[in-house]
Amino acid sequence: MAILKILTDEDPTLRMTSRPVTEITPRIIRLIDDMRATLKKSGGVGLAAVQVGVLRRVVLVEDADGSVLELINPEIIEREGEQHELEGCLSVPGRWGITDRPESVTVRALDRTGREFTVSGTGLQARCFCHELDHLDGILFTDHARMLTEEEMAQLSGEEEDDGQDG
Ligand code: NI
Repeated sequence: MAILKILTDEDPTLRMTSRPVTEITPRIIRLIDDMRATLKKSGGVGLAAVQVGVLRRVVLVEDADGSVLELINPEIIEREGEQHELEGCLSVPGRWGITDRPESVTVRALDRTGREFTVSGTGLQARCFCHELDHLDGILFTDHARMLTEEEMAQLSGEEEDDGQDG
């Protein structure tokens, strides 16, 4: 498994729309495996294929128990409630903001064998599903978050560092 380079927000690729996966080829499987290795090394909680320069609708999201969910052609089919929490992105290093997200979501996707499944997440995981799916449509959290000021960031770095999310 290879560690892939994660694109950062000045890269125009991040603004492009990813295409659905029409066939789960060995190349797609290799992409997912490489993304898993890349996510693990990054310390983030989610990763979209576009972040490693591949415009395919594939995302990884860390599960509540720390295992990594693989989602191909994911779609949010239910949203409930709201939350306003801190969010970051591996492609926007060092910047954080408060986003408005649903408190829980249900996502439908294919797994690597092509089987359809649904998965629900709340809190951090719901934020992560929304954040990663946004990437597939060229949306970054900075487009709609209230970004923290430098003072707020300095205050934050003096506190717990892993309250937020990097994806
Ligand atoms: Ni991100």
